[in-house]
Amino acid sequence: MLNYFQIASSMIRDIGMKPKIALILGSGLGYLTCEFQNSTAVYYSQIPGFPASTVQGHSGRFIFGNFHGIPSVAMEGRFHFYEGHEIRDVVSPIYLFKEMGIERLLITNASGGINKTYSPGEIVAIRDIINLGFRNPLRGPNEEKFGVRFPDMSSVVDLEWLARLRERLCRDGHELKEGTYIWTLGPSYESPSEIKSFEFLGADMVGMSTVPELIAANHCRMKTLALSCVTNMASGILKEKLSHDDVVRTANRIRHRFSDIVGKALEVLKEI
Ligand code: 6GU
Repeated sequence: MLNYFQIASSMIRDIGMKPKIALILGSGLGYLTCEFQNSTAVYYSQIPGFPASTVQGHSGRFIFGNFHGIPSVAMEGRFHFYEGHEIRDVVSPIYLFKEMGIERLLITNASGGINKTYSPGEIVAIRDIINLGFRNPLRGPNEEKFGVRFPDMSSVVDLEWLARLRERLCRDGHELKEGTYIWTLGPSYESPSEIKSFEFLGADMVGMSTVPELIAANHCRMKTLALSCVTNMASGILKEKLSHDDVVRTANRIRHRFSDIVGKALEVLKEI
């Protein structure tokens, strides 16, 4: 296991700032770091023992900087199980953030819409998860300093933070939908029959990330919010075939709205 404490301390020392919040930016959503002020990049490849990101559209680095007046660190590119990483490695950034003293995490992703009331380009808050692949990042010896052996998962996101964001958006005349996100291992997209069965299970959106990170964040009691950009409807919901290029294109198309919502998610923290 990586010595997260040592890596976190040396990063904070070298960069000269202590972030208060961490953001994980999903496929096509890395542009948010353009708004970081006084930013410094640390490539994952510069960190000994750290996994390397391989997916197209992700650059594989941490960006430290001031975001909406809050010292922050963002991941441009995350680790997916389908890249071949061990499940423990997929969540290594969460424990690194924890060791930096960070208590809040904002996770973003791109997902396929299963719920027929959603439409491509919509931003939905994740309220609950389904770990369809049954891979658990906490498998193996429990690191007691991070959390208990059998963590409760009755609410994987911080309901107070979510409620504040919902109220804030409502005040501006926008509704924030909430839904259940189901995690498939990928990298292939799903078949129409798989999507039909996920709908039956209660899933509103589907994707290849976020669930391991939410489990780990909950394990080490980080207060987390998760926003999903529904970039396309899932297989069989509409006739179109799915492509990663379309996912990135839609994520790009809604960049202003996405960055507005993320900005408000940070601003409401000042009231909590
Ligand atoms: Cl339709 N499925 C999965 N697993 N991930 C996605 C997606 C669909 N659309 C964007 N990401």
